[in-house]
Amino acid sequence: MLWVFLLYHRLKTMSFVVGLCVTIFSLSHGVVDMAGERAEEEEGEKVVRMGSYGGMVQLVEDATEETMLLWGIQQPTFSQHNAFVSQSSHSLHLDSCGHSLSVLQSPSSLSTPGVTGAVMWDSGVILGKFLEHAVDSGMLLLQGKKAVELGSGCGLVGCIAALLGAQVILTDLPDRLKLLKKNIEANLRHGDLRGSAKVNEFIWGDDPDPELVEPLPDYVLGSDVIYSEGAVLDLLATLLRLCGTHTTIILAGELRNDSVVEYFLEAAMKEFRVGRVDQTQWHPDYCSRRVVIYVLVKI
Ligand SMILES: C[S@@+](CC[C@H](N)C(=O)[O-])C[C@H]1O[C@@H](n2cnc3c(N)ncnc32)[C@H](O)[C@@H]1O
Repeated sequence: MLWVFLLYHRLKTMSFVVGLCVTIFSLSHGVVDMAGERAEEEEGEKVVRMGSYGGMVQLVEDATEETMLLWGIQQPTFSQHNAFVSQSSHSLHLDSCGHSLSVLQSPSSLSTPGVTGAVMWDSGVILGKFLEHAVDSGMLLLQGKKAVELGSGCGLVGCIAALLGAQVILTDLPDRLKLLKKNIEANLRHGDLRGSAKVNEFIWGDDPDPELVEPLPDYVLGSDVIYSEGAVLDLLATLLRLCGTHTTIILAGELRNDSVVEYFLEAAMKEFRVGRVDQTQWHPDYCSRRVVIYVLVKI
């Protein structure tokens, strides 16, 4: 009986020592297992893979810290404003996915209060080129996937997603749809279009048409949609409504107003895990310190 007791204690001690070694190794190598996802500590930041995006993203754990980091280290105000767009011209030309795209703009509409989608914004160009780069580098698969774009404006992001093979529904406010449709028709007539694109009216916070949610999209995309504190809660309600367990949200935001970004992050983190995509993963020719790209997945 005594030898059984001693053997039991020896095995228990051994398993404790092995467990301790594994823990010390994990901590010293910064490897932590979080909800089935591999996470690494990198200079105090937790780096994880999130949703269907194959790259590593920096997990955002505190909205205030994240905002201070963006404004303190990235220093957006010192970077060129509208580096990739010219909002006074009637069209913007961009090569993407082997096509020469020409996006029509309506510069005069910009003076109408509340109208923002009549011209292109840097974050739209950057998000479109990011999608192209991520697909080309095998980090993202859009072929055959359903994508809903929110606040499409002139429609560049949705057009690029369709060229990359996604079945895209581009959405915006009712009075924005005419220009959006024109841009889809002008740029997606190619016989070799891999995906598809259609335009739907959709106001954030409203009940979505069945077409948007049946089935729930694989991706929800949006560029420069976090710019007004008054719209944040409706935008988040919509993201939540469109998001299933398999949905990956990819948003590009312009760093104009730290309190709007902080307010968005704080509210978003109650429902979503939020990760920031490092600029090393963006298209190398389309980076800006005034822009940030986030990936979100439902908690
Ligand atoms: C700053 S623009 C960005 C346009 C485009 N995504 C880009 O990056 O060029 C914001 C877009 O969100 C749309 N938008 C703003 N509030 C909205 C709402 N409550 N519901 C739906 N769309 C909205 C605007 O009409 C506009 O097209």
